[in-house]
Amino acid sequence: MIAIGSDHAGFPLKEEIKKYLDEAKIEYIDVGCYTPERFDYAISAQKACDKVAAGECDKAILCCGTGVGISMAANKVKGIRACCCSDYFSAKYTRAHNDANVLCMGDRVIGAGLACELVEVFLNTEFEGGRHATRVDQIMAIENGEKLY
Ligand code: RB5
Repeated sequence: MIAIGSDHAGFPLKEEIKKYLDEAKIEYIDVGCYTPERFDYAISAQKACDKVAAGECDKAILCCGTGVGISMAANKVKGIRACCCSDYFSAKYTRAHNDANVLCMGDRVIGAGLACELVEVFLNTEFEGGRHATRVDQIMAIENGEKLY
């Protein structure tokens, strides 16, 4: 199960991505927003990421104008590794190397065609583990207040 959410600026892109998910028969929960009216991105970020952190959803997809604000909010939720992507390579390797569990994109940055390609590669790329697991553990150690140095 995937959580998907946006603010007003990301709303059109979220709706396009939902069409892709429907066609690909990928199940999702839309946490909003549900109209193009002004809606603050932190609310959708927290709603979607709480579902990932709780294990109710495997991953989340979030959209705002730039993808940046919503990724910043997402990364404040414990257990979340969100990456704002606008290129294929980053979307692939944030899974392979960072074990990212949230993909963020900007409606004002990329088109729906590219966004759906990024979603596809993000959802279909496995974490490589190994030396990358050590680094991801370090990220989570920072989140838990540990000093790495
Ligand atoms: C909304 O105008 C815009 O600031 C927001 O969608 C996002 O781009 C923030 O990072």
